[in-house]
Amino acid sequence: MSYAEESRRQAEAIRKKEHVRILAIESSCDETAAAVIEDGRRILSNAVFTQIDLHALYGGVVPEIASRAHVEKVDRMVDQALREAGMALQDVDAIAVTCGPGLVGALLIGVSCAKALAFAAHKPLIPVNHIEGHICANFLTDLSLAPPFACLVVSGGHSHLFSVEDYGVYRIIGQTQDDAAGEAFDKAARVLNIPYPGGPLLDKLAEEGDPRALKLPRPKTEGRYDYSFSGLKTAFINAVHNARQKGEALHDADLAASFRQAVVAFLVDKAMLAADDLNLKKMALAGGVSANRLLRREMQRACDKRGIQLYMPQLSLCGDNAAMIGSAAYYRLLRGEIADLTLNARPALRLSL
Ligand code: KG4
Ligand code: ZN
Repeated sequence: MSYAEESRRQAEAIRKKEHVRILAIESSCDETAAAVIEDGRRILSNAVFTQIDLHALYGGVVPEIASRAHVEKVDRMVDQALREAGMALQDVDAIAVTCGPGLVGALLIGVSCAKALAFAAHKPLIPVNHIEGHICANFLTDLSLAPPFACLVVSGGHSHLFSVEDYGVYRIIGQTQDDAAGEAFDKAARVLNIPYPGGPLLDKLAEEGDPRALKLPRPKTEGRYDYSFSGLKTAFINAVHNARQKGEALHDADLAASFRQAVVAFLVDKAMLAADDLNLKKMALAGGVSANRLLRREMQRACDKRGIQLYMPQLSLCGDNAAMIGSAAYYRLLRGEIADLTLNARPALRLSL
């Protein structure tokens, strides 16, 4: 029997099992991660190796260095995830992997590893979209969350407002027209000499600053629920340079606080505009930027005011990890969405109808 036929039959049988355990692999950017997830909701293990130190020297992710580090670490992360879950490869029901979007060389390492494991151990292979994974981090944090809900995905590469209509069914409500929110945070941090990735440290610094110190423009977008961060980023960088040239004493903490305030107010206001227009009752946050302290506080305040239930991933699941991929994979498996060994990395993979 061919691998494809065998795994199709297995996937059918697995769906009738009481518990389904999935080994998931993530390698789309600069984290090499593996995890074992039960029934899409329970984390049995979650191993993450972050490559930040390898890239910090260059001020951003260097794709070749990322691929090399993934090659070196992916087996170890898989071993660690299985060990921490108290399982052998044969004990898991399926293998899941992020197949896009992301850096092609980085994605290929995870995809190749997952294909090899699936073929060798005769397990179904489940392809997962990285953005979908971020959304599903919320299923691991709040076991009661179920679609429909809206989700603001804000990460280093993406800023989207999705309507999650059902498990695996996504519709874009709004999206950025240019930079992603995380990218804007990282670039603003760079002018403040904060090392890569600047977002988390800028956030920390901003806690001590005055957000009224620097007035920044309100970005304009064509689409009612769309975002745009490039103008805001440029305005910030120019304002900082001008002030420095004039010898004006501006404190880094005040600058960080002003920029963070502008980005967060824009993110929250647009999300609430959609919430009001579309009468949304449940809203979630996802992606690296969902760890932002001000974003979490302001979203909570805005949602409380409207009686909207807000869901936020626990901090350890905001950034890239494989646990979220294992959660997304479970719902794909229930729908019979498995791949054969022709699965390839898809750097520009989209997530929507
Ligand atoms: O989701 P993620 O780990 O990777 C992508 O899929 O892109 O997101 C990483 C991004 C980086 O730009 C990082 O600076 C940003 O998330 N980030 C933050 C915070 N923590 C991470 N940005 C602002 N405030 C934070 N606390
Ligand atoms: Zn991510």
